[in-house]
Formats: sequence, C-alpha cells, structure tokens
Amino acid sequence: MKEEPKYIHNTLISEIQYDENDQLFRMFREIAYDVDWDNLSDEDNEALLRGVTTSHQGKQVALPLHQTLTKNSVYEKNEKWNEHREDIDEQLEMMGNKVWKFYDDIGRSPDTPQFDLLLSGFWINRLTEGDYNHLHNHNNATISGVYYVEVPDVIKNADYMSNKFPDGYLCLLGNSIGIVERNIIGDNNYYLKPKEGLMILFPASVQHMVYPFKGPGTRIAIAFNLSLVVADKYYSYKTF
Ligand SMILES: [Fe+2]
Repeated sequence: MKEEPKYIHNTLISEIQYDENDQLFRMFREIAYDVDWDNLSDEDNEALLRGVTTSHQGKQVALPLHQTLTKNSVYEKNEKWNEHREDIDEQLEMMGNKVWKFYDDIGRSPDTPQFDLLLSGFWINRLTEGDYNHLHNHNNATISGVYYVEVPDVIKNADYMSNKFPDGYLCLLGNSIGIVERNIIGDNNYYLKPKEGLMILFPASVQHMVYPFKGPGTRIAIAFNLSLVVADKYYSYKTF
C-alpha cells in the first residue's frame, strides 16, 4: 500500500495504491462482483439511483448505509457487502482520519477532537461505453473517496498528455484560486487516470466529473463519503 497525499490546486488530494493481495482490494472486488449486473431490472436501477444522488448519471448502484432500504435494493441482496461492512467501515474511517489530520495541520479544522469521521455513504459506479458522471460534488459530506475495482484497457492505455482526450478519466475541478488571468494556457483542473487498486480521497466539496470512454469493457469504481459527526463522548454534553 502506497500513500501519496499531495496538494493540487490548493486542495489536498490523497492517492493510495493498494495491491491485489490487499484485504480492501479483495473486499471491494467481491462486493462489486456480487451484483448481478446483467439482470438488474429497470425498477431495481431506479430504486437504487434514488439512493445515490440525483446528480449522478449512468448505471450506478447505491448501497445506502443509514437509510431505509427498499425491498429491491441490491444492498439486501449483496451478501458480500453485509459480510465485509464492519471491516470496510473501520478501514475507510481510519484512512479518512489520517487525511483529516492534514487538514488539522493546516488549520482547516480547529476542534477536530470533538468530531468523528464516519462512513456515511457507499455505492458502486459501473460505467460502460458512453456512460459518464456529470459535474457534481458531494456537499453533504466531508471527505469523498473513490476506489477503482476494474478499468478497461482503452482507459488504461489512454494518454491524456498526448491526445488531449481524457476518456474515462476522473476530473477534479480546481477552485480558481491562484489562477493568473493573463496565463491563458493555464488548466486549473486535475485529471486522474483510473487504475485498479487506486484510491483517491478529496474534499467532498470539490466539483468533479467522469468523462465517457469509447470501446469495450466496464469501468467499476466504488465511491464513498466520510462525514464529520459530533463524537459520542462529546455528544452527551450537548443540549437541544
Ligand atoms: Fe461523485
């Protein structure tokens, strides 16, 4: 496992590469492949889409955590998710806290001991040729993450730097701070080529999108949100 937190366009983006033998890789792959993708009914898809967010497009499946679940939900059918949920909670929250520590260091979070980061959303995003996620952010969360389970060769072999088509890439939009207007060739966005086993963590407020790709294969990503909540040990002091 290799972690490379870095600042990109005045925000903090962490890239963590897991290898095939890693427990998280195995659990995510099992959950993604526990879905009978070819036999999802329109009804299933619609019910599941409502559980994600109306800002997403494409064939996406939600596995809501703290929400009422519909009878048709893949959540109930996904045995692997039920099997691994506690381990995943633990591992993602630990990683989120590590990243949050950096925010602490740069003064973004003055009172973090009063808060816990909890896994508040978890869903699978499966795209085939022509599918895309249009521009959106996850503004009800604190840190968002995505983990790539499967990436088609056409995306892996793409070279954005030479052909300028970021097919299948994740694009995180810069916030425009620091742009020098006279520099007309400046590109304030960050383009990330997905790769199996790669996890990206970024502030949930950052706008992002996924470009469509051409050709065979499926692009399967697991996305999640981590949200700050008042820690249990502080919660009892609060009066409402
Ligand atoms: Fe997203």
